[in-house]
Amino acid sequence: MDETVKKKVMLSGIKPTGDLTLGSYLGAIRNWKERAEQYDCYYFMADLHALTTRNDPALLRRRTLEQLAQYLACGLDPEKNTLFLQSHVPAHAELGWVLNCYTMFGELSRMTQFKDKAAKNADNINGGLFTYPALMAADILLYQPDYVPVGEDQKQHVELTRDVAQRFNNLYGETFKIPEPFIPKVGARIMDLLDPVSKMSKSDEVGNGRVCIMDKPEDILRKFKRAVTDSETGRCVYYDPEKKPGVANLMQIYSACTGKSFPEIEAEFDGKGYGVFKPAVGEAVVETLRPIREEAERIIRDKAYLEKIYRDGAERASYVAARTLRKVYKKVGLVQK
Ligand code: TYM
Repeated sequence: MDETVKKKVMLSGIKPTGDLTLGSYLGAIRNWKERAEQYDCYYFMADLHALTTRNDPALLRRRTLEQLAQYLACGLDPEKNTLFLQSHVPAHAELGWVLNCYTMFGELSRMTQFKDKAAKNADNINGGLFTYPALMAADILLYQPDYVPVGEDQKQHVELTRDVAQRFNNLYGETFKIPEPFIPKVGARIMDLLDPVSKMSKSDEVGNGRVCIMDKPEDILRKFKRAVTDSETGRCVYYDPEKKPGVANLMQIYSACTGKSFPEIEAEFDGKGYGVFKPAVGEAVVETLRPIREEAERIIRDKAYLEKIYRDGAERASYVAARTLRKVYKKVGLVQK
């Protein structure tokens, strides 16, 4: 590529609120690593976002570093991608405050994730949980990205980011690039194996419905053998997410791990029952995750290496973020230092 042509920018983040799941991998990280040559990429641990729910402080610290190790193990090259911790770049919290003042109460009230989380954490519906999308808009807009690769569940937040950016641009003139969500065709919404109408979530209780990147092969196989399907017999492996959500989810996972299309999967398991299909999906997941787990276990032991990466990343990210923040402060009328 001609180095003088400015690359398009991509940015995304994950909250370190739980062990990364197969959903975070297939819906997000897997689609990031291929982009490094073509785009200027920023990926961060959304540790400030993690504070919207209660965490054990030592566990949050450990998970944040483990998440960085897992990003690296998934193939994100720190030379080609800017990898950092959100809390190390103060501009996120600073622009987050400004954008809070340009995000409407009604908009925030409509966010389905807020409604879900408020229902699940009735004893801790804090202000941060409510205004979280304004901080997420700041995370994004600071880097002026063209694309934000996320799973289906984050699309609404990226759309709100676009509305807030547009509102700001209308008031003060061109300031923010309007980003596009970038949703993968397969794997954008991986469901819980035991409850296939609910998203597989890293923050839920540890259970057999959730597969984590760091799970041992025998645990992964056991979880897939127990996955909920339906009572159909005979020709039972075909794609119908309405009537057969469990099978549709397993087909999504199998397709994402093997690259096979739905018709190819239907042909492969034609006449075979779930007793053959479910372990085959489990094996495909084991083989997809095995190299990642082994590499992450190696990297997590090298604390000095991780520290170097997140320090370098924060320095690079801060430089870009500070430029946007300066522009915004000036436009809204804050006196420049
Ligand atoms: P989070 O941490 O809940 O999820 C991280 C990413 O993984 C995707 N994902 C899934 N994809 C498919 N199937 C699933 N079951 C599944 N579960 C999670 C999510 O869509 C997401 O892409 N608010 C964000 C983090 C964030 C962010 C940002 C993302 C903060 N600032 C700026 C992009 C840009 C969140 O809570 O994601």
